[in-house]
Amino acid sequence: MAMDLPLKRFQIKALSHQDAQQTLKHDVLEGMLCAPRSLPPKYFYDEAGSRLFDAICKTRHYYLTRTESALLKRHADEIIAAARPRTCVELGAGTSVKTEILLSGLAAGSRPFTYVPIDVCEEMLIESAARLLYHYPRLRIEALAGEYLSALHALPRLDGPVLFVFIGSSIGNFTEAEAMELLAGVSGIMGPEDAFLLGLDRVKDRKILEQAYDDDEGITAQFNLNVLQVLNTRLGGNFRLENFSHRAVYQEAREQIEMYLVARQAQQVTLADLGETLDIAAGETILTEISRKYTRASIRHLLEGSALSEDMHFAPGDEHFSLVLARKR
Ligand code: AVJ
Repeated sequence: MAMDLPLKRFQIKALSHQDAQQTLKHDVLEGMLCAPRSLPPKYFYDEAGSRLFDAICKTRHYYLTRTESALLKRHADEIIAAARPRTCVELGAGTSVKTEILLSGLAAGSRPFTYVPIDVCEEMLIESAARLLYHYPRLRIEALAGEYLSALHALPRLDGPVLFVFIGSSIGNFTEAEAMELLAGVSGIMGPEDAFLLGLDRVKDRKILEQAYDDDEGITAQFNLNVLQVLNTRLGGNFRLENFSHRAVYQEAREQIEMYLVARQAQQVTLADLGETLDIAAGETILTEISRKYTRASIRHLLEGSALSEDMHFAPGDEHFSLVLARKR
């Protein structure tokens, strides 16, 4: 999809690449040199990983995207009427397809409207901006390529009221303490007129959850394995992807899906740019992602611990997903 960007209405700021490489090295040294091994899920999203995630969202078993989109369609008018935003800041914007459900009315209106998408994948930000700016001739986009917390500190001047958006259950990747820190960070820059829309996945039957993270087309498996390719590319690694398999388990007591890569055999892997060689035993696991599942009570608890309060709560009849509009407390 080759489209020209209307540059008068588009800005992108990349948070320093130098820092990103340092952070990657630090994260990999910390997560991969001792057992149990782990990697932060943000490294899934290079260009290939972002496309694989997009494909996951279209699989039969990954109910999250469909369920949340239906909720957004059903309640967009109520959300917009309550928030009355002039600016929308989105954490983890991805393709912005779901956000467009919310913003189409505003972006097509005669009032100026600014969208500030934040994402670690710069290619995705540019591609999505091209599509949105073409569809909405009055929309302005000020994109930030980088991690959530650094991006929040680098936000441009914003016209209020601001609607902060963190949907898609991306909050699920954080432990409760980390989630509270991030939400408190957003609450800290919110004014009394601003609103925060959160999308959270809910605790439900184990079978539904485990299938959502191990779809029968094997796309989630490819997505999981791709993180090793990212390390190969960015750290001069020699991981052989065929030596690992994908595993997703629902840990009921922790209310979270845990995704692992499991070594199919004993092997040595070198990460040249780190000057490290890993000795990996057969059956050894690398934890690549947690995806936390919430109840109405744990959502309220999360918000309370983040200086936020629940204003509106939308869920389908089966309570499989929640959209929450929160205010600063
Ligand atoms: C993008 C973090 C919301 O946890 O459901 C999808 C990522 N991982 N399938 C999720 C993911 C495997 C997804 N989030």
